[in-house]
Amino acid sequence: MANKLKESETIEQRMTALLAQMTLAEKIGQMCQLNASEGYAPDYLADDLRAGRVGSVLNVVDVDVVNELQRIAVEESRLGIPLLVGRDVIHGFKTIMPIPLGQAATWNPALVKEGAHLAALEAAGAGINWTFAPMVDISRDARWGRIAESPGECVFLARMLAIAAVEGFQGDDLSATGAIAACAKHFAGYGAVESGRDYATTNLPETKLRNVWLRPFKAAVDAGVMTMMTSFSDLNGVPATGNSFLLRQVLRDEWNFGGFVVSDWDSVRQLQIHGLTENDRESAFEAATAGVDMEMAGDAYRHHLIGLVEEGRIGIDTIDTAVANILRAKFRLGLFENSFTDPAELPPPGNARALATAQKLALQSVVLLKNDHGTLPLSTQRLSSIAVIGPLADARYEQLGTWIFDGDEELAITPLHAINSLVGDDVDVRYVRAMENSRSKATEAFDAAVEIAKDSDLAILFLGEESILSGEAHSRADINLPGDQADLVRRIRETGKPVIAVILAGRPLTLTNIVDQVDAILFAWHPGAMGGPAIADLLFGIESPSGKLPATFPRMVGQIPIYYSQKNTGKPPSRDNVVHIDDIDTYAPQTSLGMSSFHLDTCFTPLFAFGHGLSYTCFDYQRIRTSADEIELGDTVTISADVMNRGEVTAEEVVQLYCRDLVASITRPVKELKGFRRVRIEPNQTLTVDFELHTDDLAFYGRDMQRTVEPGEFHAWIGGSSEAELRTDFRIIDSG
Ligand code: BGC
Repeated sequence: MANKLKESETIEQRMTALLAQMTLAEKIGQMCQLNASEGYAPDYLADDLRAGRVGSVLNVVDVDVVNELQRIAVEESRLGIPLLVGRDVIHGFKTIMPIPLGQAATWNPALVKEGAHLAALEAAGAGINWTFAPMVDISRDARWGRIAESPGECVFLARMLAIAAVEGFQGDDLSATGAIAACAKHFAGYGAVESGRDYATTNLPETKLRNVWLRPFKAAVDAGVMTMMTSFSDLNGVPATGNSFLLRQVLRDEWNFGGFVVSDWDSVRQLQIHGLTENDRESAFEAATAGVDMEMAGDAYRHHLIGLVEEGRIGIDTIDTAVANILRAKFRLGLFENSFTDPAELPPPGNARALATAQKLALQSVVLLKNDHGTLPLSTQRLSSIAVIGPLADARYEQLGTWIFDGDEELAITPLHAINSLVGDDVDVRYVRAMENSRSKATEAFDAAVEIAKDSDLAILFLGEESILSGEAHSRADINLPGDQADLVRRIRETGKPVIAVILAGRPLTLTNIVDQVDAILFAWHPGAMGGPAIADLLFGIESPSGKLPATFPRMVGQIPIYYSQKNTGKPPSRDNVVHIDDIDTYAPQTSLGMSSFHLDTCFTPLFAFGHGLSYTCFDYQRIRTSADEIELGDTVTISADVMNRGEVTAEEVVQLYCRDLVASITRPVKELKGFRRVRIEPNQTLTVDFELHTDDLAFYGRDMQRTVEPGEFHAWIGGSSEAELRTDFRIIDSG
């Protein structure tokens, strides 16, 4: 601690000394990030670099070009300030790991941290010292294309993953070779865009904003994240890039954030398009005064900040604070000491450790949604032939998912390839792609697929969404399997052969129209380069599936937003008080409807609940108990349950703890995740899983926007999903 303090004092002193030498133009230069993608750098940038008009570049990944840019900045500019070199390293750099939503399905923060660390090492080898990740936007709307990049719907899980990613990218020492600055984005509310349309408006009451959407960002700040990125979206009428409530009151005054804030791509100038400002000059004014330290890829700061300061509209203190925040990051990264990159000091991209981690993440991310009559796992001894069908069985690029700028497609191993290697000569594998891509509506090749299914012992269908269907600006209003995939499923079903669906997608899908047509479903997200071997190992039982859903799967798109931590309402639905549209009593329609909170044309429950995920064994949860029935405010209680593996294979299970605060001054969710643990249990072994819960873990922001714990009754459940029924109760008291 003493050392850390000393080190940061030195950084503060060095930064202050540097700032004192800077001209206004050089200061504003630090606040500008320019696009340096291929074709532009370095000629296009050289004069700006020499004049100190650039603090950061993004989208240059050739290490020689990066080194040359750094050389000009360091050796040819007056003050020799090195550059921050940013890039979207979202789920791997060259070695692509599962999409972030898939990584969330592992419920394994330690593994996510390792994945981020390995991605940082690969990116650092290209001269990158700053990633625009992790995205920590909670999302409860699968229509939103960017749910693929998100940690899913749950505050607790998102917080744990935010910490893991920040620690993975940044390491213990940001100046170490291979550590890169992280960026928690998009501050804030982006995941709540109306109807899941990207860039749309968000409206979030302050209690909801604070209790849900802001919490993963706070976790990232507490974990030491160096930077934050604003959201493109408008929050309660003020676009995030001009929102001083978010950027000053919450981030700086309440959270003491010591890093810097970057706008999203050109989002400063977009303040005008939102209708907040009249022109770029006013946009620069709003963003800078709200607390955006650096403008990404626009030129509002570049052209207008000097004038705004000279006119006296923006005080020099505002500029100095922003520049100090940016310089602090550069000092912490050690860029003044080590401005250049020698790739030989870093492991080569696509190395064995990176591939093994990518495979492990993929393996643990796949969720077994259903498995009738033990269809899975398959056995090479009992099979002589299998039909592999579908547009995603052998599509290397498509299994990588969104945001893979630098991903090496050559490293990807497809499921078809991996199945063939795994079964060798023991099983005859026949393959028909059947559809050119997942959106295809051409059905001519279906007959060939039906033929091979008829001739085989069973069919494995690789369905889902190709990668372009999720990600930024790739939202969907209909989240069924696209194209004619449902028809393909029906045709294969008609053969009477067992049908296994392996679904690769960037979001939860509505699977209602196929769920009863197949015997088993493995939901694999976009699993990345090593998705093929991971899926093959799961299909053939080398490993048991252990992924759990990080987001609820609706039955129908009209149920959205549907999430486990909803409020109870004054008229909660139950099996006894709901009526289906087909069962309305024609003679007494008004009285027979049930009068509770549900949709007439579907069930009130989701198709698959948050936290759901089956295994090849069966876990039995018993004997939930608390260390005390009553705990004093400020104390800790231990909640435990015994988990027994009743099946025949060793398997991992994610044991989940949920709580409910029964009565509070603002209504609280019916369940909130408060802990989880991934454990490996042998057949017939019983493991006691303990969760320590401090009363602060049950705090929430109330009517006065203060985070407090209110004494009273609590329920606690331990189980394998948010539908856990094994419950105990405890009470928090305040005798002080
Ligand atoms: C995205 C950000 C990304 C940035 C830079 C924007 O369009 O919203 O998430 O980091 O581009 O590529």
